[in-house]
Amino acid sequence: MKRIAVLASGRGSNLKAILKAVKRGEIAGEVALMISDRADAPALEIARGDGVNALHIDPKSCSSRESYDQVLINALKENEIDLIVLAGFMRLLSPLFVQAFPLQILNIHPSLLPAFPGNDGIEQAFNYGVKVTGCTVHFVDEGLDSGPVVLQEAVPVIQRESVKTLQQRIQAVEHRIYPIAIDLFCRDKLKVEGRRCYIIDKET
Ligand code: GRF
Repeated sequence: MKRIAVLASGRGSNLKAILKAVKRGEIAGEVALMISDRADAPALEIARGDGVNALHIDPKSCSSRESYDQVLINALKENEIDLIVLAGFMRLLSPLFVQAFPLQILNIHPSLLPAFPGNDGIEQAFNYGVKVTGCTVHFVDEGLDSGPVVLQEAVPVIQRESVKTLQQRIQAVEHRIYPIAIDLFCRDKLKVEGRRCYIIDKET
C-alpha cells in the first residue's frame, strides 16, 4: 500500500473524490497526510472529517519559498510518503521540492495541456473560444504544468454554455480520472521515458 499525501489550498473536491475512491478500494494506497498552505481551506476539514492527519503549514512562517518547501519536504519525509498529489495547491513548487521527489508528484490541470497552462485554465480556454477542452493529469517537473502527461480526457464546450457549467463538467471528469491515475501509480503501472508516460499492462 502506497502512502499518499494530498496538497490542497481550497475547496477540496478532488481530495473528496480521492478519499471516496480509497474507501471503495479503487486506489491501492491510503491518504496518510494532507497539507494546506491556507488555514481556511475547506480541504483541511474534509481530510480531518475522514480521520486524515491534516496540517496547515503557513507560508508566512517561512522567510523564502525554499525554506517553506523545505518544511513541506520534512513533513512528507517524516510521514514516509510515496506519492504527492497536488489537488488545487496554489503555490508554485521550487526546484528543491521537485528534485526531492522525482516522478513522485502528480498534478491535475483543468485544460488539455500544453494548451492553457497556469491559473484559470478553464477561463482561458473558454475565453479563447475553443470547441474542446478537458483536463490533464501529469507528473510535476520544474516547469509550469509541463511534466509528462499521465491521462487526459476531452470535454466539448457546449454552444452558449457559461464558464460555470463548463467548469462543473470538467471537474466531474477530474474526479473520475484523478483516482484512476493515482491508482496506476500506486500499482507501479506508470513508466516514464523522456516526455512519454506509458501505462504498463500485463500484455506489455
Ligand atoms: C481543479 O480544477 C484542478 O484542476 C486545479 O485546481 C482545482 C482544484 O479544485 N488544479 P478542488 O479544490 O479539488 O475542488
